Amino acid sequence: MGAALLLASCDTQLRKSDAELGLNPQQASGRRVFDRHCATCHEAYRAKAWRGPSLEGVFKKQFMPSGTPANDDRVREVITLGRSKMPAFGRALDQQQMDDLLAYLHTL
Ligand code: HEC
Repeated sequence: MGAALLLASCDTQLRKSDAELGLNPQQASGRRVFDRHCATCHEAYRAKAWRGPSLEGVFKKQFMPSGTPANDDRVREVITLGRSKMPAFGRALDQQQMDDLLAYLHTL
């Protein structure tokens, strides 16, 4: 009990399961794409910038940090082509992975 309280108050966020986040299968596989390719630079559940801006609520805002509209086409474009220090993922991700990733980003 004491230890659980300590952990809960700790800064390090405990990782939630896909079920706790309410992810459907497509969103869950998109989460795995994110973990593998994006999480080294982007936070998903905290507003804090890391190597790149936080992607928390990326589709809930009207614009991405650059001022580009936050819609499917523009977000896909950033991922496919990259942007300044962000690498391009056009070759690393197939269409299915890209679709799954987008579905996941919509849950943030
Ligand atoms: C090596 C680090 C790195 C990785 C890996 C990375 N990004 Fe980024 N990302 C960045 C940086 C840096 C920026 C800010 C670019 C800029 O200066 O506009 C950025 C910006 C973005 C933006 C906002 C673009 C805008 O117009 O403001 C989105 C959306 C994004 N990344 C999504 C992703 C996704 C999804 C992945 C995984 C497929 C990913 N990034 C992987 C570093 C990274």
